[in-house]
Amino acid sequence: MNRLGSSFAGALLLGVGLIAAAGCDPGRSQAAPPLPAKGAGGGLPIEAIPPGDLTPRRLRELAASGSEQVLRRLEEVWGRVSLQATGEMEALRQRILDIARTGSGRSEQGVLVFEKLCAKCHELRGKGRHVGPPLDQALGGDLGEIVTAIVNPNELVRREYFATGVLLDDGRFPQGILVSRDRHRVILRREEGVEESFPAFKVRQIIPAGVSYMPEGLLNDLKEDEIRGLLAYLVEAPQ
Ligand code: HEC
Repeated sequence: MNRLGSSFAGALLLGVGLIAAAGCDPGRSQAAPPLPAKGAGGGLPIEAIPPGDLTPRRLRELAASGSEQVLRRLEEVWGRVSLQATGEMEALRQRILDIARTGSGRSEQGVLVFEKLCAKCHELRGKGRHVGPPLDQALGGDLGEIVTAIVNPNELVRREYFATGVLLDDGRFPQGILVSRDRHRVILRREEGVEESFPAFKVRQIIPAGVSYMPEGLLNDLKEDEIRGLLAYLVEAPQ
């Protein structure tokens, strides 16, 4: 959790800053008037685009062609799109794609890597936990998109998967994915699918970080054949 914790702290500041800039209460979902996204949106209001059409490519196009307002509207309807991959990330993405191309991976090895690094948050072929999205046919099996999602989890983040912190009256600040909140309680889900419920009267503030609950750098310590195996396992046809 350390890696996640430290990236969360930075992200949190960013998230709070953005929320302050947007002038809204972080805890409440806002109903803003529809805003047309011109250009890539084809003149349609963003909410008129069927969710299935909001592919990674379409989301990038919308964000690239849009104003601050379009980004904000996208965030309300879908989640956050931030097109600021660092040069380092782009280089890593290329390196991983090159590794994938220069040999074939063994999915029997990949499943071991998956169980170690991913299963605490993802389900795939019946294995793992439901914290992030299930990875059966993730991103249409597009290897480039899958590698991008792993190397740069914060590029495209659906709002239901934002890391969220809950500030409690005793000063504790547990973090996870917000499962639900109502008058009585706030529920967070963490790695391994562990859920924790906090009585509403103890909750001072709910703070969405605006970044993914998925940590960066997950592939950093893997050997080349482990990376190939993991990717082979992720794109393997369903059995
Ligand atoms: C701490 C939890 C966590 C871990 C560990 C984790 N992920 Fe994720 N992952 C998420 C969350 C949350 C999302 C959704 C938000 C996003 O796209 O970043 C996600 C998104 C993804 C996506 C995009 C899926 C889609 O449909 O958009 C892929 C692919 C992915 N993860 C692969 C992996 C792989 C491979 C590993 C292991 C190397 C891994 N993840 C480890 C939480 C996790």
